[in-house]
Amino acid sequence: LSLETEPVEQVVNILLVDDQPENILVLRSTLEALGQNLLVAHSGREALRHVLNHDCALIILDVVMPDLDGFETAQLIRERESSRQIPIVFLTAGDRSEARAFRGYSVGAVDYIHKPFHPEVMRSKASVFVELAKKTELVREQSRRLRETEQREHERQIAEATQRHQAESYRIRGELLVKEMEAAKARAALELAEARSQLLADLERKNVELDRARTQAERESRFKSTFLAGISHELRTPLNGILGFSEMLQQEFFGPLNAMQKEHIGLVVESGRHLLALVNDVLDISKLEAGRMELALEPTTLASMTGAALETVRPLAEKQGVTLELDAAASLPIVVVDPVRIRQVLYNLLSNAIKFTRAGGRVLVRARKAGEEIEIVVEDTGVGIRPEDMPRLFREFEQIEPERFAGEAKPEGTGLGLAVSKRLVELHRGSIAIESRVNEGTTVSVRIPLARTIEVGAATAPEQEGA
Ligand SMILES: Nc1ncnc2c1ncn2[C@@H]1O[C@H](COP(=O)(O)OP(=O)(O)OP(=O)(O)O)[C@@H](O)[C@H]1O
Ligand SMILES: [Mg+2]
Repeated sequence: LSLETEPVEQVVNILLVDDQPENILVLRSTLEALGQNLLVAHSGREALRHVLNHDCALIILDVVMPDLDGFETAQLIRERESSRQIPIVFLTAGDRSEARAFRGYSVGAVDYIHKPFHPEVMRSKASVFVELAKKTELVREQSRRLRETEQREHERQIAEATQRHQAESYRIRGELLVKEMEAAKARAALELAEARSQLLADLERKNVELDRARTQAERESRFKSTFLAGISHELRTPLNGILGFSEMLQQEFFGPLNAMQKEHIGLVVESGRHLLALVNDVLDISKLEAGRMELALEPTTLASMTGAALETVRPLAEKQGVTLELDAAASLPIVVVDPVRIRQVLYNLLSNAIKFTRAGGRVLVRARKAGEEIEIVVEDTGVGIRPEDMPRLFREFEQIEPERFAGEAKPEGTGLGLAVSKRLVELHRGSIAIESRVNEGTTVSVRIPLARTIEVGAATAPEQEGA
């Protein structure tokens, strides 16, 4: 901002008004030295025209003129807003009365000069007005610039404020967004927490119900198993008595029997044995279900087990007219099992194979080491099992397809054998699988792992009940 330093080197207009050309000439020559622009008018009207078109620093106005005289011209100049401030110096050759001078001042005269004038005085007076005009212009210019600067500053401030405002509004909007997001998050978290606690409460309730149901079921199952085990055990004692005494009778321990007596005591013995087998199976199942079956594990050779099982069922096979074969590798590894239980499994598989094979058929027992397992396979050429019956095989008391033997004697059994066998094999960590084709035969495979980890507690506790 440089208000003072900027010099105003412009030329200003001085308007000379006189109806006498020679007077104009004198004025010209007097004022030329000021170096300003001299405008000339020969009448009041011409002077007005100049004032309309130009900015004048000073008007030197002749008073006595035809048509519009000096005073009238001055009056018209003063009436116009844009020219009101222009200084006017009246030139008069007329009388020097105070009245005239007074009239000049009342229309805004600045000065009075009488003709003939002194050129030096005229010049110096005019130069004062020129300076005044220039100074006025300077001040005007400066205030204009000031206004401009102020305007610029104002605009800058407005721009700055706008920018600040915008930044602030962005910031606030951002904060609002963050707040909204946080609120949404909080709401979601709250909903989630509510849903979770609801779910947890549900779960808790279900757990309690489940617990109650399980406790109840366990109690019932325990009761059933204990009841069955107890009753089976209690049944066995008198049953063994009946069997023992019947056998003694049958063997004519107490004297000879007639044919009729012999036949019937034979039926008693047979029924007694059947009943004992059933009671034993029920006892086993209930112990297995109650988790109270304990294995008496000992190192056992496979041959001893297969051999014993085969010898037990040989009379049955002969009666049925079925051939029994054994195919076992000479050197089979020793396994750690409960031999009584494995024999029981083999006995059941073999008796099934014989029972469900017609006369002339064949039952083959194969034993071999398969990887880390011992595999015992009982294969028959019997009636087979329909695919749809397979899932029912291992269920307790499931005897299927009695109609296969229609017209023939229905094989005996209670349907517990396979259920007990499966559980016993699984207690040895083994598995049992059955493949069968109707009228072609059935193959049952038992696999028992060789490296069987012996469970603590399930180890060598002796069987209390005995088999
Ligand atoms: N080798 C087989 N051939 C054909 N059917 C079989 C064979 N083994 C089992 N089944 C069928 O599976 C059923 C169930 O066998 P499981 O040994 O469990 O009972 P069961 O022999 O009838 O009675 P239990 O063994 O208790 O005296 C048998 O009734 C029979 O229908
Ligand atoms: Mg059976």
